[in-house]
Amino acid sequence: MAIKTLRIPSYPIDTQFVERWSPRAFTLDPIDEGTVLIILEAARWAPSSYNSQPWRFVYVHRDTDHWDSFLSFLNDFNRSWAVRAAAIVVVM
Ligand SMILES: Cc1cc2nc3c(=O)[nH]c(=O)nc-3n(C[C@H](O)[C@H](O)[C@H](O)COP(=O)(O)O)c2cc1C
Repeated sequence: MAIKTLRIPSYPIDTQFVERWSPRAFTLDPIDEGTVLIILEAARWAPSSYNSQPWRFVYVHRDTDHWDSFLSFLNDFNRSWAVRAAAIVVVM
């Protein structure tokens, strides 16, 4: 795998850190509601400033009513790859 040959840690850290990467290419496949909710459930356990939970998530699936509005929140570069994503989540 390319990542394994390009990324060589100087100290023995867990592979999850070395092999992580930021995807910007998407297949146009949809994501089902249950998977979105699992991802957001994991996300809501993230630490917050001053421990001021709860997190709020507002999301939209591609090709639904508010998709264009959510895309308009992004700058041109981010819109260029996010337009192929299955969903966009606004985190508050
Ligand atoms: C605080 C922060 C903000 C970022 N903002 C953007 C962004 O607006 N658009 C984007 O495409 N990537 C964004 N990234 C991703 C970085 O560009 C990406 O992590 C970097 O190119 C390294 O690639 P890698 O994550 O695949 O190792 C952001 C990363 C961080 C840490």
